[in-house]
Amino acid sequence: MKKRILVTGGTGFIGSHTTVELQNAGYDVVIIDNLSNSDANVLDGIEKITGIRPAFEQVDCCDLAALEGVFKKYPGISGIIHFAASKAVGESVEKPLKYYENNIMSLVNLLKLMPEYGVKGIIFSSSCTVYGQPDPENLPVTEEAPIKTAESPYGNTKQINEEIIQDYIKSGANISAIILRYFNPIGAHPTAIIGELPNGVPANLIPYLTQTAIGIRPCLSVFGDDYDTPDGSCIRDFIYVVDLAKAHVAAMARIVEGKNADPVEIFNVGTGNGVSVLQLINTFEKVTGVKLNYKIVARRAGDIEKVWGNVDKANNVLGWKAVHTLDEALLSAWKWQQQLRERGIM
Ligand code: WQD
Repeated sequence: MKKRILVTGGTGFIGSHTTVELQNAGYDVVIIDNLSNSDANVLDGIEKITGIRPAFEQVDCCDLAALEGVFKKYPGISGIIHFAASKAVGESVEKPLKYYENNIMSLVNLLKLMPEYGVKGIIFSSSCTVYGQPDPENLPVTEEAPIKTAESPYGNTKQINEEIIQDYIKSGANISAIILRYFNPIGAHPTAIIGELPNGVPANLIPYLTQTAIGIRPCLSVFGDDYDTPDGSCIRDFIYVVDLAKAHVAAMARIVEGKNADPVEIFNVGTGNGVSVLQLINTFEKVTGVKLNYKIVARRAGDIEKVWGNVDKANNVLGWKAVHTLDEALLSAWKWQQQLRERGIM
């Protein structure tokens, strides 16, 4: 009998890639998504890749009654992976209440329902944003690094949600949790059937870069080259989205097989390598042969100067390691952008 997993935000970028890997690992996946930042045709893509169409419910996790209806309709959920959240750093500064209401209420509702419906564990999609700008001696950053005051309401909701999970379990709730702190997810599935497709003008680097490369955007702005880094541009830990998806499968196995050592475990999910924005651009040009039109502009408010992960714990305890190179991840992003053009989507 396949174990049933509920994936919230499952038609989104990371959620859809994780659904593919969960199905490949033999799980029965139920997706709930309110489609506020994704499209239901992603379900066709998932089915095309795996041959299995996941069950889908268009539900907002903030709607407790509707959410409970999903738990009733799909009994025997073994675990939840919670991706559904608003995630644009800049927008969170303009609309903080939207972020606090959506990102916190959705998690609280799930936690409320889990014990009632016998759901063992939850995997929470967190972010390296919780570290803020690590001190130089704390780079690469480990899970024990101090949590710093969030640079944005988005980052603050991640910190608050981690605390909510810890407090709830500490209060005696009979559930367990694994918190995954992502670094920068990039790329697309190797089939180029699913990938990152932000609504409107992309806020984050890779979609803006590939849209510039294909001619949708005239020029990529690099937000600052006067940072204290070797080439002056910011440094990040760019992780291939399929590697990230597989980290969720490893974490879910750990929960459903009861192997988690503590009721709450935290793992950094990255490559462990720091790459600068300009290095990434040079790598993109090298692997694709496409000359990118970009210019250096002023720094973006709220940007962290340099952050990359120490991923020993994920490698040694979770038994997961990122295996794809930056070259491969960037090539997959470019192939995806070309597919979007061929399919007349953009
Ligand atoms: C990366 C680097 C920019 C766009 C945020 C969240 C994180 C996650 C990913 C959700 C920075 C530079 C970017 C551009 C640029 N969110 N850049 N020109 O800010 O590291 O992380 O998004 O999953 O939790 O914090 O990602 O891609 O926006 O920026 O120069 O047009 O690229 O300055 O140095 P970020 P990003």
